[in-house]
Amino acid sequence: MSTATGLRVILGAGGQAWDGWTPTQREHLDLRDPASFERWFGERRADAFLCEHVWEHLTEQDGQEAARLCFSYLKPGGFLRCAVPDAHFPDPDYQQMVQIGGPGPADHPAADHQVVYGYREFVAMFEAAGFEVDLLEYCDEAGRFHYHGWDVATGPIYRSFLLDHRNRDGNLGFVSLIVDAYKPEVAGSEN
Ligand SMILES: C[S@@+](CC[C@H](N)C(=O)[O-])C[C@H]1O[C@@H](n2cnc3c(N)ncnc32)[C@H](O)[C@@H]1O
Repeated sequence: MSTATGLRVILGAGGQAWDGWTPTQREHLDLRDPASFERWFGERRADAFLCEHVWEHLTEQDGQEAARLCFSYLKPGGFLRCAVPDAHFPDPDYQQMVQIGGPGPADHPAADHQVVYGYREFVAMFEAAGFEVDLLEYCDEAGRFHYHGWDVATGPIYRSFLLDHRNRDGNLGFVSLIVDAYKPEVAGSEN
């Protein structure tokens, strides 16, 4: 499915496996632990990161630091494709499911949600880390869904307009806020 080349890494992959991508778990690459990146990457740098429904498990501050961490382990011109639940999707059941703390028992996947991002805060977080950001899918403040015709072959996000089984037959059942965060070819703030 993927036309991926180079070192392309899935962060917090869980059960995800896409051709051309190296899945990693928190035990390998922990977004809250720079030393885990140092150990795993050594002198290498990634061409791309893919990260689906992970960032909402980090606090806002940890998310900001994780953005800087990913920036420093990407090659210039590389990108982080990152998807999270969308604060502006106007479906009460969805918002209940993705809310901070999650809807139910402690072992529910959403139980440790720390943040529910809207597109403005999410973009601003990556821009503050030095990225240039392209919005691929998001809802605006009026709840209107925007899909920017991106190519899933360059890095699939399952919970997306085209791939998610809940979005069929004109039904928009489950969306994500999805961005591509690019590290500029000539980086302004290498760290
Ligand atoms: C809801 S699951 C999503 C799994 C997979 N990406 C998917 O879309 O099916 C959240 C994932 O985030 C991972 N995660 C949570 N905190 C993390 C961290 N600090 N660093 C890396 N992964 C983390 C969890 O281990 C888990 O795999």
